[in-house]
Parts: sequence; C-alpha cells; structure tokens
Amino acid sequence: MPPAPRKCPMDFDPKARDFMNDPFDFYTCLRADAPVFADPRSGITYVANYALAEQVFRNHALFSSAIDRPALRDGGTFPALAEIKAQDWPSACTITQNDDVPSHDMFRATVSHFFLPKNLTAIEPFIRARTDTLLETMAAKGTTEFVADFAVPLPISVIGRYLGLDGYSYTKLKQWSDAFADELGLLASDERALEAAKLTLECNAAILATAGQRQAAPCSDIISHLATLRLPDGRPLTDPELLSIVRQLLVAGNETTTNTLTAGILRLAREPALLHRLQEKPEQISSFVEETLRLETPVQGQFRRAMADTVLGGIPIAKGTLLHVRLASANRDEAIFGVDSSRLKLGERPLRPHLAFGLGLHFCLGAMLARLELKIAFLAIVKRFRAIELAEPGAPAHYHTHFYHRGLKALHLTLAGNTLTALPEPLVS
Ligand code: HEM
Repeated sequence: MPPAPRKCPMDFDPKARDFMNDPFDFYTCLRADAPVFADPRSGITYVANYALAEQVFRNHALFSSAIDRPALRDGGTFPALAEIKAQDWPSACTITQNDDVPSHDMFRATVSHFFLPKNLTAIEPFIRARTDTLLETMAAKGTTEFVADFAVPLPISVIGRYLGLDGYSYTKLKQWSDAFADELGLLASDERALEAAKLTLECNAAILATAGQRQAAPCSDIISHLATLRLPDGRPLTDPELLSIVRQLLVAGNETTTNTLTAGILRLAREPALLHRLQEKPEQISSFVEETLRLETPVQGQFRRAMADTVLGGIPIAKGTLLHVRLASANRDEAIFGVDSSRLKLGERPLRPHLAFGLGLHFCLGAMLARLELKIAFLAIVKRFRAIELAEPGAPAHYHTHFYHRGLKALHLTLAGNTLTALPEPLVS
C-alpha cells in the first residue's frame, strides 16, 4: 500500500490573493516535507522539486497540458460571461496546450524560425532603440516608476512590432495581453472576467483585421507570414488557429519579460554592490539574467493533468488529477542549486539548467528573444546609471494577484549618474 499524501505543516494558501508577495517559505517547506502535495482546499496537487518537475514535463503523454484554465477561475462561468464568450471565435488548440506531437510541432514550426538567434538580428536594432528612448526619459526625470516607464513598454512594443500589431498603441496591446493573462490566472473577479472577455473579443477582431490587410499587402512581420502561409497539407491557417498562435505570442512574451525586468532592477536597487560589480564586469550580464530568471521564475508554475493513474515521488496520483508544477520551487531545489540555492550566484555553473522557460515539448519558444531583451536592457541600465535606489526604502512590495505569474505592481526608484555609453556590438548569440 503506497503512503498517503503528506500534508504540508505550514498553513499557506497558494490561492490567497497576497500569496505572491512571498511564496518562497512555502516552497521550501514543500520541498522538505511534501514535494508532491495534495492541497485539500483547492484540490490541486503541487509538485515542488526539480527531479519531479522534470519527470512531469518530460512525459507530456501522461501529464497533459490541455487544460481549460478559464474554467478553473474561482467563480467559474456565469450567464453574462457566457454571452460574451459566445460572440467570440471558437478556440483552436495549436501550441501551448497541444500535446499531440506532430500537430504541436507543425503549428510551432509556423513561427519558430522568427525566434532563432540568426533571425532575431532583425528585431535587435528596434530593441536597442526602444531601450535607449525609454532610459533617456527616465534619466531626464531622475526618478521613475519602473514598471510603467520601462518594464511594461519595452516587451510589449517589441512583440507588438514583431507581430505586426504596431499600428495599435502599446497601452492597447498591454490591455489586451493583460486580459488574456487574467483569464488564465484563476483569481480574476467576476467583474474583471467580464471586462477581460470583452477585451479578448476586441483583440481577436483587431488581429484578424490586421491579417486581412497583410494578406493583401504582406510585409516582414509575423502576422504577414501567418496570413499567407500554407501548412504542409496545402491549406492556410483557419481564423481560430491564426488567433491562437498570435495571442500566445502576444501574452507569453510580455508579462513574463516585464516581471523579469522588474525583479532584476529591484535586486540591483537593494544590492548596490551587485550593481557596481556588473558595471565593472558587464560580461557577467548574461549570468545575472539567468540567475534573475532562476530566482524569480516569473511563471511560477504550470498546470498539467494526469491522463492515467500513476505514482509520482511515491505518492499515488489518480487519473484526472490537476497538478501544478511549481517551477519557482524547483529552481531553488537544494539538490541542484546547493544549500544556498536562494543566493544569486554570478558566474557559477549549476548542476542543471534552471526551469524558468520550462522543459520538454513545451519549452519556451521565445526564450532567446526574452534573453536578448533582458541582456540589452540590463546592460544599458548598468551602463547608464551610477546609482539606483528605492524611492521608499522599507515600503512593502505589492505583487499582482495571479495564480502563477509573479510580478510587482509598481516600483518607484531614484536614479543617478546619467553617463550614456554606447552598447557593445550585437548581443544575439
Ligand atoms: C522571461 C520571459 C519568459 C518566460 C519566463 C517564459 C516562460 C515560459 C514557460 C515556463 C513556458 C512553458 C509552458 C509549459 O510548459 O506549459 C513557456 C512556453 C512558451 N513561451 Fe515563454 N517565456 C518567456 C518569454 C517568451 C517570449 C518572449 C515568447 C514569444 C514572444 C514566449 C512564447 C512562448 C510560447 C509560444 C510557449 C509555448 C511553447 C510550446 O508549447 O511549445 N515566451 N514560456
């Protein structure tokens, strides 16, 4: 008889609205006491260490990612919400939730070449120019609310431009992206769920309008490519398939990068010695980016559904069980990253790579673009500002309410030393 799931002794609620303010004690407790933890409150089973996360992510046939996340929202679907959703285009399963390998790979291949290093050189000049413009404005003020002034506009304008949605303001693109993210984040209020559904409808219409224009007059952006391509069987993408791919790129590449940028600069503001070290050794920026990704893990976890009865970490898992693999916990696993796994380790090579971009079939398609943006941005920041300080030291940090994205709502800083230095040669590698 296998042992029954153990109960984590600490009374944490991962669905609590302020859980994201500091989830790390809970993760430490889970790793030590219950790396497979069946939460009686939510019915969700958490997976918390590296080896088990790897086991789940590598086996997409047994642990499926095809999960209707909006349906898991606290409050579910209600008539007014269903009415708006009925006006929307039907959904198509293309990349993120598609575990059928040939079909997943076919849809992923429609856009994957845009995210190869050799092709990212096309978007790199735009990233650099946008970075410089945003920093210029911040430097002129000497103070900043970093989320609104930099961390939001940079990634959203980059992906907007790459997709071909740059005819819309970045604030509109951000509104649309936030709507999708909130739909998937389980914790939106009924009011917000309604608003998000309306915005989703608006966004879908805008994407299809853009695709129609690009069909008539294609250019080099991703939507032009999707609107004109033929799949291996000779047919074009259907509207729901095109919408699904574009929306995944719009959302996945945006909130995540925003949250990594903010987490990184928060650390630089709290640790002046680290800022000075990077100023002296800018070649360590890549390592800083990887460690920020590991320690912050902006996508704190991902859902999987058990497709058959199985056993994980010695714990029986029934068919249909909803798992949430907490990548953020796996990324601090002492067995892989050492007893001091919560310390930032520049220039040290861990036993295994971090899991901030996932693993296996669904490994992040945009990882190289994200890394490029993060490297360009942090390098420009450490070169430009001699000092970065918290405007209100000691003030509590407030994080967004979301089940698995971790990101600060706002970050007020003061900046000193406006020494503009040219960036090094292209960073795509
Ligand atoms: C710091 C930034 C980013 C982080 C932390 C991140 C994280 C992740 C993670 C954890 C997954 C795996 C999901 C799963 O297994 O269920 C994923 C998948 C994905 N990401 Fe990212 N991502 C980032 C940036 C981007 C960017 C810039 C793009 C594109 C513009 C992007 C597009 C995607 C797509 C399309 C997938 C699904 C891949 C598939 O299912 O085959 N991501 N990302």
